[in-house]
Amino acid sequence: MKNLFALKDLSVVDINGILEEAIEFKNGKKYDKLEGKSVVNMFFENSTRTLYSFLKAESNMMMDETNFNPDTSSLKKGESLYDTVKTFESLGYDCFVIRHSQNNYYRQLTNINVPILNGGDGTGNHPTQSLLDLMTIKENFGDFEGLKITIVGDIRHSRVAHTNIAVMKRLGMKVYVSGPKEFDDGSGEYIEFEKAIKEMNIIMLLRVQYERHGYCMTLEKDEYLKKYGLIMERVNKMKDDAIIMHPAPFNRKVEIDDPVVECKKSRIFEQMANGVFVRMAVLKWALE
Ligand code: CP
Repeated sequence: MKNLFALKDLSVVDINGILEEAIEFKNGKKYDKLEGKSVVNMFFENSTRTLYSFLKAESNMMMDETNFNPDTSSLKKGESLYDTVKTFESLGYDCFVIRHSQNNYYRQLTNINVPILNGGDGTGNHPTQSLLDLMTIKENFGDFEGLKITIVGDIRHSRVAHTNIAVMKRLGMKVYVSGPKEFDDGSGEYIEFEKAIKEMNIIMLLRVQYERHGYCMTLEKDEYLKKYGLIMERVNKMKDDAIIMHPAPFNRKVEIDDPVVECKKSRIFEQMANGVFVRMAVLKWALE
């Protein structure tokens, strides 16, 4: 049985296999062996892209999908996460997609006997986001070895950054971090933003996660944009074939200026589109 809790549990061969499968799905490959398999999407934290691209992926695979609503469930009577998931397993469901605000929530679910796909845990892991980021990079550059990326912004609170830094290094990329020093948690080599703009193949921006801050960010929004935001003046200094990525949702006029969101170098909506195909490939990998 295969769970996808964190990308560190997958070999490079597995990761490349999922990416190749996702690209085949994007190119129109059909697959009907998951028809009728049932999946419960359990989102204990808000989501637009992850939840709805999983739903689209499940529907493309002709699976039976159920959306669990924590607010109307027996969690409100004190039932635990484990007992809730075990209940759905007893009801005969074949797979779970779970997002939870608690880091490593899945460690309490190791006795569940059907695959669990992590849709994001706290500030820890977001494996399917990372896979769709990798798919977008692979489509744009063909390979990972030697590519230079700077992840800019709220590294400390970002499960996307933590997942990407680790997997991108494993795939041979040179990974740097930048942005306000208060967000630098030591998980990557720091580079000055203006230097990164000129030297990188990829600039990946992160949302300032105001909802996770136990304190107020010291920079005002307009100051952030001026010092660390991607504005067109900076985009124009990037390498010709360099690209801009952002896992989204984004704070317009904070880490990214309006005209940059859909500029020629931006791959933000391509990333979202790839999310459906990566999640189809992950469902196939876990359930076939
Ligand atoms: N990128 C991402 O995880 O977006 P959602 O929070 O909308 O799912």
